[in-house]
Amino acid sequence: MSTVMQDGFGRQIDYLRMSVTDRCDFRCVYCMAKHMTFLPRQQVLTLEELQRLATLFVGQGVRKIRLTGGEPLIRPGIVELCRHIAALPGLRELVMTSNGSQLQRLARPLVDAGVKRMNISLDSLDGERFRAITRNGDLDQVLCGIEAARDAGFEGIKLNCVVMKGRNFDEVLPLLQYAIEQRIDITFIEEMPLGEVGRSRGESFCSSDEVRALIASRHALLDSAENSGGPARYMRLARHPDTRIGFISPNSHNFCASCNRVRMTVEGRLLLCLGQEDSLDLRGLLRRYPLDDQPIINALQQALRRKPLRHDFSAQGEVQILRFMNMSGG
Ligand code: 5AD
Ligand code: SF4
Repeated sequence: MSTVMQDGFGRQIDYLRMSVTDRCDFRCVYCMAKHMTFLPRQQVLTLEELQRLATLFVGQGVRKIRLTGGEPLIRPGIVELCRHIAALPGLRELVMTSNGSQLQRLARPLVDAGVKRMNISLDSLDGERFRAITRNGDLDQVLCGIEAARDAGFEGIKLNCVVMKGRNFDEVLPLLQYAIEQRIDITFIEEMPLGEVGRSRGESFCSSDEVRALIASRHALLDSAENSGGPARYMRLARHPDTRIGFISPNSHNFCASCNRVRMTVEGRLLLCLGQEDSLDLRGLLRRYPLDDQPIINALQQALRRKPLRHDFSAQGEVQILRFMNMSGG
C-alpha cells in the first residue's frame, strides 16, 4: 500500500514539515517584520484538509511529520489534529516545533495525543532581551512551558537557539548550562536570510564555527556521529551525557546532499526546498478533487522530480527568498 517518494537525485523523501498556521503570538526579529499581515481564513488549509494531506503523504511513504507555524499551538483544534495524524498507520513519529508559550496548558494533552518530541525556541534567559528578540514574548511563561514539557513525558525535548552577534552570542554558555541542568538537548542555529524583516542581517550573523569555538573554550566536546535525520550536526559533552549539542549551519555548511524532506506552507504550497521558491499548489488540487486522491498523488510525484539539488544561501547573505519564515516553519 505505501509507496516511496524519491526525488530526481535518488534522495528518499520521508519527512514532511507542515505549517498549520502563519500566525504567532511572538514577532521574532529573525522571523517576522514588526507589523505583519496574516492570511485570510479561506486561504489557509482547514483542519480537514491538513488531515487529508497528512494521510496522503503517509500513504506515499512519509514516516515523520513535524507540525510548525507560525506557532502551531495557537491554531484552534491543534490537539485533535495531532491525535488524528499520530494515529496514521505507517507514521513513525509526529513531532512539533513551538515557541513554548502555550505549553503549560498543552504539553500533557499533546503527549496524550501522540506527539513524540518537541522543539522549543529559546534565544535568551534574560527577560528584557527575550522580549526584545521576540518583540512580544514572556520569558517566564516559556520557561514554565519548558518545565511542563519535561514533566509531561515527551520522548525528547530540544531547545532551538538562533545565535546573533550583539543580541545573544554572549548567552551561548548560559543557555547551554540551562539545557544541561534541564537534561535536554540544544541546537544553535545560524540565521537564514528569509523574508525582509526590516534589518540588515550581515551585521548580526554568527557562524556555527564561532559558537562551537566558544563552547569548546569551556567544555570538553566530543564528536558525535548521531544524526536525527535532519541538517544538524551533533556533539556531546564529555561531562554531561544527557545533553546533545546540535549545530544547524545553512549558510556555512551545505547539507543538501542528504536532504530527506519537503515543507508545506499553511496555504498548501508544497515547497521542494526551503531556499527556493518552486512549489506545488496542493490546496488547489485538494479543492478541485475533493474525493479523489490519485490526481494529487500524481502531481506530487511529478513535483518531487523537480526538487533542486541544493539551496543557495550565500554566506552572510541578504534576503533572497521573500517568504517569511512563519510561512514555511523553521
Ligand atoms: N533563520 C534561522 N532560523 C529561523 N527560525 C525562524 N526564522 C529563522 C531564520 N530566519 C527558526 C527558529 C525558531 C524556529 C521556529 O524557526 O529556530 O525557533
Ligand atoms: Fe513565532 Fe517562531 Fe517566528 Fe518567533 S520564530 S515569530 S516564535 S513563528
